[in-house]
Amino acid sequence: MAELYVNQAREYSNARPSYPPQLFQFIASKTPSHNLVWDVATGSGQAPKSLATLYNNVVATDASEKQLEFATLLHNVRYQHTPSTMSAQPRFLIMSMAELEQMVSSQGTIDLVTIAQALHWFDLSTFYKQVNWVLKKPHGIIATWCYNSPRVNDAVDALHDKENYETVDFPFGPVEGVDHTGPFEFVAETVMDFDDFLTYIRSRSSYQTSKNNGVELLKEDVIENFKLARGEDGQKTVKFQVYLRIGRVMDA
Ligand SMILES: C[S@@+](CC[C@H](N)C(=O)[O-])C[C@H]1O[C@@H](n2cnc3c(N)ncnc32)[C@H](O)[C@@H]1O
Repeated sequence: MAELYVNQAREYSNARPSYPPQLFQFIASKTPSHNLVWDVATGSGQAPKSLATLYNNVVATDASEKQLEFATLLHNVRYQHTPSTMSAQPRFLIMSMAELEQMVSSQGTIDLVTIAQALHWFDLSTFYKQVNWVLKKPHGIIATWCYNSPRVNDAVDALHDKENYETVDFPFGPVEGVDHTGPFEFVAETVMDFDDFLTYIRSRSSYQTSKNNGVELLKEDVIENFKLARGEDGQKTVKFQVYLRIGRVMDA
């Protein structure tokens, strides 16, 4: 939900990881043409930085204007604020077909649709119809990935939840060279000190939701537990396990 990212958009842009080059090379190797990408729910442009080096043009959309304010401007990336409404599910519709055509691109024109760490927000049946409409036939590709909390050490990792898109509805065919749609695993590494780690936690929508409801999840004792589990102070290289689902456009 886009408004959850209003208050911590700065934290988000500072604390979230960039994705590994291997992830983008794998995805780009599956699209025969490298003209146009749509990065949906782009946040502050975490994926476009790399996509822009592999594709001629990127349209990067998000429902939060605040998130887009923190995105790095690049000559071949067009950032676009898009509307969102609640569906019956309740999940979010990204926009109407008319808005899609007007704000993103016309039918059958996009080589690749990417959704990084955001698929869980969407009403998937509506969203997938839009993806199929906008992708080129027959070679258009959808790629979506998520990551779980950074791996610091066994003690800290045990305090976090896990998610890996194994069971998410993903009605697309395998891309060339593989016989399933994933999850394929990659690793993003970043250097964090303890404050960076806390900033990462504060950038999560679950943290913000609790805070909006008067519950501070990072109380003194919780911070102390993380500190003890983490061990010595200073910077640490932490790993985010990235899980990719990738598939071909459907014919219909
Ligand atoms: C966890 S962030 C992911 C941001 C970025 N893709 C990344 O890799 O870090 C989720 C993003 O989804 C956006 N979002 C949520 N609902 C949306 C909707 N219905 N339409 C477009 N963007 C939406 C939020 O504003 C937020 O920036």
